[in-house]
Amino acid sequence: MAQYDVSLAAVRDVTPAIREMVLKTRDGAPLPSYGPGAHTEIAVKLADGSETTHPYSLLGGTVTGDDPPDTYRIAVERRADGAGGSRFLCDLDIGASIGVSAPRNDFPLETHPANRLLIAGGIGIVPIFAMARRLKREGRAFTLAYVARDLDQMAYRDEIAALAGGHAIFHEESSAAAPLDVKPLAKKLAYPAEVDVCGSYALNRAVVAAASAAGLSRMQIHEQCFAPPPVVRPENTPFTVKLKSSGKSFEVPAEASILETMLMSGYTPKFYCGRGECGICPMTVISASGTVEHRDHTLKPDERNSRICICVSRLKGGELVLDG
Ligand code: FES
Repeated sequence: MAQYDVSLAAVRDVTPAIREMVLKTRDGAPLPSYGPGAHTEIAVKLADGSETTHPYSLLGGTVTGDDPPDTYRIAVERRADGAGGSRFLCDLDIGASIGVSAPRNDFPLETHPANRLLIAGGIGIVPIFAMARRLKREGRAFTLAYVARDLDQMAYRDEIAALAGGHAIFHEESSAAAPLDVKPLAKKLAYPAEVDVCGSYALNRAVVAAASAAGLSRMQIHEQCFAPPPVVRPENTPFTVKLKSSGKSFEVPAEASILETMLMSGYTPKFYCGRGECGICPMTVISASGTVEHRDHTLKPDERNSRICICVSRLKGGELVLDG
């Protein structure tokens, strides 16, 4: 619920799709304070005309200092396919009134000393950036790995490099390189170790699986997802996937995608969005004994004869043989 009326004081495009927005009280009155990982609920109008609130993580300041008490700083990713909340905010003019709530923190930075690995995917950089600022200020060491489709989509790249120095890793999922390998990064963390990840549902699952495989307990892995988990459709059925190169097979249950099942089985397929939008994850289909249900928004009709987005698409029963 919006409790404070602030105005849009400044904007800055930090990538072609992500806009930083500085919100200030009109009279300079202080807003409630918060720690890294916190978010505020912001009143938005959706494309269908309805009104609601959406959560936006708070940056807390810039690489050079904290924001004053009358200021909240957020970053909003304009999503063409979303319900319209992000477009509403990105289209506001300077001086526009915005309703915000008191901050709430479901993803707090633990205060005890630890060797820390921060991982961000896409717009998930916002709470991770806030954590990096705090850790840097307190002189606590950390490694920050940032995953995005390519370098142009990475917000605050120079700032992150300044904060993390040689411990910043920028990983482009669209490059020919292998996916970010989290396991060795997590393994390198001497005890006590902590991992904080904010990304897509698929990235978070991959990080949890890799960090667990590296020996960290679930208590040492903290996550926040910027999108809700994919809806399990009632028509989903289990099926078998066989990988041609290894000849190995695994069962994909009704409640998980091919991508999730591969990640949980120790494979490292390439992916980014986990929503069938970015076009990074498609694999070549060698054969399918059932009907392939394409649920992506990226493959062209002719590509669907031979490719499948493993993050969202499925087989209706039977066995799917993939070139992997
Ligand atoms: S991970 Fe983006 S389309 Fe599958």
